[in-house]
Amino acid sequence: MINICELLGIKYPIIQGAMAWIADSSLAAAVSNGGGLGIIAAGAAEPEWVREEIRKTKKLTNKPFGVNIMLLSPHVDAVMDILCEEKVAVVTTGAGNPGKYIEKLKRSGVKVIPVIASVALAIRVERAGADAVIAEGSEAGGHIGESTTMALVPQVADAVNIPVIAAGGIADGRGIAAAYMLGAKGVQVGTRFLVAKECTVAQSYKDLIIKAKDTDTIATGRSTGHPVRVIKNKLAREILNLEKKNACFEQIEMLTVGKLRAAVKDGDVIRGSVMSGQIAGLVKKEQPSKEIIEEMFKEAEEIYENRIDICRSGSSAHRNG
Ligand SMILES: Cc1cc2nc3c(=O)[nH]c(=O)nc-3n(C[C@H](O)[C@H](O)[C@H](O)COP(=O)(O)O)c2cc1C
Repeated sequence: MINICELLGIKYPIIQGAMAWIADSSLAAAVSNGGGLGIIAAGAAEPEWVREEIRKTKKLTNKPFGVNIMLLSPHVDAVMDILCEEKVAVVTTGAGNPGKYIEKLKRSGVKVIPVIASVALAIRVERAGADAVIAEGSEAGGHIGESTTMALVPQVADAVNIPVIAAGGIADGRGIAAAYMLGAKGVQVGTRFLVAKECTVAQSYKDLIIKAKDTDTIATGRSTGHPVRVIKNKLAREILNLEKKNACFEQIEMLTVGKLRAAVKDGDVIRGSVMSGQIAGLVKKEQPSKEIIEEMFKEAEEIYENRIDICRSGSSAHRNG
């Protein structure tokens, strides 16, 4: 099976998770310059914004980088055309099956790596020609599926013949080592890059991530079928109250429109949507992207050197004693 670093032309097998409104040319270029694969999050942004960010990134790095597009974006067709014209190295996709775009992307030399949350979707995108899959567990920040990383990654790894990249709950070398043990060939990290020096999210957002404890996130929107993991704040509590009262989809949608932008750009971390993964409790300080990547892989390598030590003499010693 092809190695992720060879496939993507990167030094470390790490992809910076797309983060709508957050992951722009500044973060993407810093991660790529640090040896990982930086990603611009197109989310549902206007196509021309996406083209501009791609061109800015090209000026900031000569390393490969990618763009993530949410397949539910009203601009998906126009953005896909731009990605082909600009010949970005990689496209990652969220919210569905990018099957109908894969042939055109690949003809333009673009690698396609869908984010999936189930074995069934992993198999479908492999059949459609995906180069790899990102198996994202429900520990992750942002829109999530049902299965955890621990359960999802090995099942996807058994089901497909393309490389599996694990996402959700990975923020240090232990997470990387665990992902490899589960059958992953690389990792995608979002929450830890929220506090990268080059991440342009509001400082109050970063501060909240750094302050967060293990139990500070919650999934809102389960009743709508579109769960989102966020830091518990006033907005999250209001959404959960509405859900308890069986409010309809439209009522909940109305409450959430524009709220990620409010947190990211205006720094409103009380009434805004502060998307974050459960691993935020492990994220302790702002650091340059390159330092984050190097630290994580140094830790992972140390773990591999000190492999699990099974004490085989223990039981016989007991018996003999
Ligand atoms: C603030 C935020 C916004 C996100 N936006 C997107 C997005 O636009 N598209 C996408 O595919 N994933 C998105 N994600 C998921 C990340 O790309 C990544 O898979 C996830 O953060 C990995 O889990 P972790 O948060 O535990 O590191 C987002 C995550 C966060 C924290």
